[in-house]
Amino acid sequence: MLDTAFASSTHPKTPHIPIQIPALVQPSSIQLSLVIPTYNEASSICSLIRQLSTHLDTHLPGIYELIVVDDNSPDYTAKLARELQKEVPQLKVICRHQERGLATAVLRGWQAAQGEILGVIDGDLQHPPEIILKLWQQIQAGADLAVGSRYLKSGGVSHWKLSRRIVSRGAQLIGLAILPGVLSRVSDPLSGLFLLRRKTLAGIPLSPKGYKLLIEVLARGKVGSIAEVGYIFQERQNGQSKIQLQTCVQYLQHLIHLRFSLGPFGSFLRFSTVGLSGTIIDMALLYLLHDPRNLGWGLIVSKLISSEVAILNNFLWNDLWTFRSVAKLQPGVLNRLKRLVKFNIICLIGLSLNSFLLILLSEHLGIHYLLANLIAIGIVVFWNFYLNSKLSWRVTKAKPNPSSNNP
Ligand code: GDD
Ligand code: MN
Repeated sequence: MLDTAFASSTHPKTPHIPIQIPALVQPSSIQLSLVIPTYNEASSICSLIRQLSTHLDTHLPGIYELIVVDDNSPDYTAKLARELQKEVPQLKVICRHQERGLATAVLRGWQAAQGEILGVIDGDLQHPPEIILKLWQQIQAGADLAVGSRYLKSGGVSHWKLSRRIVSRGAQLIGLAILPGVLSRVSDPLSGLFLLRRKTLAGIPLSPKGYKLLIEVLARGKVGSIAEVGYIFQERQNGQSKIQLQTCVQYLQHLIHLRFSLGPFGSFLRFSTVGLSGTIIDMALLYLLHDPRNLGWGLIVSKLISSEVAILNNFLWNDLWTFRSVAKLQPGVLNRLKRLVKFNIICLIGLSLNSFLLILLSEHLGIHYLLANLIAIGIVVFWNFYLNSKLSWRVTKAKPNPSSNNP
């Protein structure tokens, strides 16, 4: 991964494979590994590295490393950083050719890191280097995660225009609406300046999109105590921000991806989305089979057929998406068939409940049959989700091996 070539300035798309930070196997003298992600930061990288090493040599002599992760910047940022390695021996430089993106750059740096404490700071001097020492103190005091925040009393954003302040706060509000439990844990969840303990992330598959690695850390990491340190986000003196419209789109994609993948609520959301696709199939078929303008078949027969087709559709997507992590643990056609049978039975019982509600609502209460069907499906979704997650996609514990049981 450490590489010295700087030939090409084209960057292939980042592959969407989760990245894992390993636990440390061998003890190391390095305690703090600070990653500096860079893309075209030739004008600031040397000054930043010198400032950081001056601060850290005073307070953490010999126990830190700086890791520049550059995405093969056409302005030769990585080459400049490498030229500093003689002067700053704690400096490592990684140049990526196959990947692009701020968040994954930081993770690649942490993968190569030796320290128990991992950190990140921007490469453009907008984050004051001395704040790292304050964050370090918070970690030493026991925090799992120490975040530099623009939104504490001691923090700020220097001379930002009103429009940029609104965009930044707006992005935070959108995040809070989609992932309230995650973003509300810190005052500045969009911060790119923080330190954390390796154990909060070790072994956890991470797939951040775009810029906002801290959100991924808060969402997926095992982060207990959090400390915050205020800082003033400096004006950029040189170079340009890399934020584009695509960065905002990636932020939204990241939030939605996390919403669908986190915890029981995430799997219920996936289950309901699959259910919605089944409902559309069910409603369309019911209309085709039962409506007098079409085939005009009896309500019960039409409903049975439309539901069975919807059940098969739902099984497929639930197996491939909603419960894929459990399905992966039970591979093979036979296992899949078993899951299908269980799913079908549970859904058919649900369907009886559905039909009962449909008849009750449409024939006895006079509600239009399509609306009645929709209401009935809404109720039965909860029943189906609960039983299927407990029975069809249940994680079966491995059987104990009788030969290894006896002491
Ligand atoms: N390796 C790599 N690859 N680095 C990148 C990439 C990339 O694709 N894109 C940006 N960077 C580097 C930049 O060179 C810079 O060092 C740092 O990431 C931040 O990028 P900027 O483009 O300068 O971002 P910003 O100033 O708008 O916002 C930053 O500050 C916010 C406030 O703390 C970001 O760091 C945000 O994450 C942060 O919240
Ligand atoms: Mn910046």
